[in-house]
Amino acid sequence: MILLGPPGAGKGTQAKKLSQRMGIPQISTGDLLRTEREANTDLGRKAAQYMSEGKLVPDELVVSMVTKRLQQSDCQQGVILDGFPRNIDQAKGLSVDRVIYLDLPREEIVRRLSGRRYCVDCKENYQLDSCPPKKTGSCDVCGAQLAQRDDDREEVIRKRLQVYEVETAPLVEHYEKRGQLVHISGRGSVDDIFSRIQKALGI
Ligand code: AP5
Repeated sequence: MILLGPPGAGKGTQAKKLSQRMGIPQISTGDLLRTEREANTDLGRKAAQYMSEGKLVPDELVVSMVTKRLQQSDCQQGVILDGFPRNIDQAKGLSVDRVIYLDLPREEIVRRLSGRRYCVDCKENYQLDSCPPKKTGSCDVCGAQLAQRDDDREEVIRKRLQVYEVETAPLVEHYEKRGQLVHISGRGSVDDIFSRIQKALGI
């Protein structure tokens, strides 16, 4: 299954819930790339500049990373892809069951992403308006410091939105034509959106 949609539409949040509900892993290419970057691997160093500028990391790097992950034993029963594919070339050769297209108005995206914070240690996600930490600047789960993603600055968010329109949005039509697309509004609470997804998938 694929979670498709613009940056900040809630793909990661909903993919995590779907993964728990369906008992199959969530594979987030953004998270995998950030892990590589933190570990300062060859791939992480190559990806870093693209990511901080809001551009897509080159296909050959991302496709080989995903292919490697899909070969692991926990992927045998299927996976939830979050942030992949990002363009028509990345979609080639993928065997897909359903595509959940989460959409959200652009200004709401900028608002949500500008207020996103994450825990530098356990990676728990916060949103300063809708889901703030109990103590300013500290993680509720482990107490570590919260930080802002370097691509969540407003000018980079706007660049990511442009890249989405040019590179990723054509996938909506691509999967719609194949009858695989389920369009879900990304407005409302996390639980309301998840109920809509469950209803649409009949799970
Ligand atoms: P990636 O990490 O995939 O970023 P993205 O697609 O821009 O997605 P986000 O993580 O920003 O948003 P999301 O839709 O997952 O929303 P979330 O649930 O987090 O990619 C980062 C970079 O890596 C790319 O720019 C690129 O450089 C590279 N990359 C990744 N994949 C690639 C690929 N396949 N090919 C090439 N390059 C690739 O929610 C956002 C915020 O809103 C959170 O704070 C959350 O708490 C909050 N929130 C969620 N739902 C709600 C709600 N219902 N109400 C209020 N707040 C909410």
